[in-house]
Amino acid sequence: MSLDTETIGEDVALLEGMRTARAIRRFKSDPVPPELIRKVAEAGTFAPSGGNRQPWVFVAVTDAGRRREIAAYYKKAFDAYIEPARKAAADPGFPSSRRKAMEGAIHLAENLADVPVHFFVAGWTRRGQEQPQSIFPAVQNILLACRAVGLGSCLTTLHRAFGKEIDELLGLDENQLSYALLPIGWPRGAYTKPLRRSVDECLFFDRYRRP
Ligand SMILES: Cc1cc2nc3c(=O)[nH]c(=O)nc-3n(C[C@H](O)[C@H](O)[C@H](O)COP(=O)(O)O)c2cc1C
Repeated sequence: MSLDTETIGEDVALLEGMRTARAIRRFKSDPVPPELIRKVAEAGTFAPSGGNRQPWVFVAVTDAGRRREIAAYYKKAFDAYIEPARKAAADPGFPSSRRKAMEGAIHLAENLADVPVHFFVAGWTRRGQEQPQSIFPAVQNILLACRAVGLGSCLTTLHRAFGKEIDELLGLDENQLSYALLPIGWPRGAYTKPLRRSVDECLFFDRYRRP
């Protein structure tokens, strides 16, 4: 597949991209060109951050052995934290939309090693404090850029259960940590609108009004 990485995604309307940048957890095995990874990472660098300190560091893991190691940690974390939800999803009374999401999450946990890119958004701590407020705007920009260029991804944080081990594997310094793991690849399905509460339930002018 030959891609013009300069122009790809440049024509996607921002608001429509936002409305359809949902969690994608099933991927084709085709590799992702490094220039495209650079492009979505660059979108991350345009995010706002406190004092414009830009504390982010991006580590895109493509090496198969490293991805296997990361996937093993992720699966362990998933099994520990999500097992009750997995049981709930097996209940026939469980809402079908939530069951679909749960099945997607299970699929990702079982197949993470095969996702072509494990994109970590890491960053410096400040005076020993984590700085998620200066990192997650970059995460969202990267997710939107993936959507624009036709890649799929999903914000995940479960790897934090083994953060120390994973940060070491990534070669991060002592005063850095990985906040998010974005599995990136070519989506198997189409982008669709996610299920969300209506804006009219969330938006208030001047003062919140209890329903
Ligand atoms: C802070 C945060 C952490 C998340 N962690 C995980 C995760 O570890 N694994 C996972 O599969 N999804 C994770 N998600 C993805 C959410 O499940 C997903 O955004 C939500 O279900 C909406 O999905 P949709 O956009 O397809 O409707 C996380 C999302 C956020 C915002």
